[in-house]
Amino acid sequence: MFEKKAQTRVPINELLARRWSGRGFDPSRQISRQHITALLEAARWTPSCYGEEPWRYIVCDKATNETAWRNAFVCFGQGNQIWAVNTPLFLLAVSNTILENNGLANQWGKYDTGAASMSLCIQATELGLMVHQMGGFDAEMARQKFNIPDQYDPMSMLAIGYQLPLESIPEELRAREMSDRRRNPLTENFFEGEWGVGFRY
Ligand SMILES: Cc1cc2nc3c(=O)[nH]c(=O)nc-3n(C[C@H](O)[C@H](O)[C@H](O)COP(=O)(O)O)c2cc1C
Repeated sequence: MFEKKAQTRVPINELLARRWSGRGFDPSRQISRQHITALLEAARWTPSCYGEEPWRYIVCDKATNETAWRNAFVCFGQGNQIWAVNTPLFLLAVSNTILENNGLANQWGKYDTGAASMSLCIQATELGLMVHQMGGFDAEMARQKFNIPDQYDPMSMLAIGYQLPLESIPEELRAREMSDRRRNPLTENFFEGEWGVGFRY
């Protein structure tokens, strides 16, 4: 398995550095129920505003429910279908728009659901799995296919599986798979005391 470790100014947690969104998934390797459960447990223990746990995940495991897997797959845009077709597991992350404790709009629901997905990504990295999150899917189609009530918003599809070794990655994917990972400089998105003043490291 090749690595695409983040280049950081100072050392950071190994799993955070190693997590990346590849597209070369091995279609022949399924994910055990135990590993899927561990992914969901990681998401489950995410902190959330008022402890509301606004996230919902729909598991679409090709090995155990091919209909659900296909229902997820048809929602993807064409650019995502090309590589996601080899992924054994999709999760649909959905966010509750309403706070259950007072019936008001939950303005932190998306924030919390994104945090849950990141917890899940880190757990996946520890288990030797790769996650590629996708916004490129038809949310309304997903709502219909999975009977999602209006109160909940589909946020992201997560493609999860084992990474293919570099030599097995289809030619048309390989260059993209090997391209550099990049981020803005620390000073661009992180500020010192007030808006726009780059953090001094
Ligand atoms: C909410 C979200 C939506 C994304 N949507 C897509 C997508 O539709 N297709 C895709 O190929 N990558 C998608 N990505 C992956 C990003 O492009 C990727 O995370 C980013 O380029 C950083 O790369 P890294 O995760 O390897 O660090 C998405 C990521 C997130 C978090």
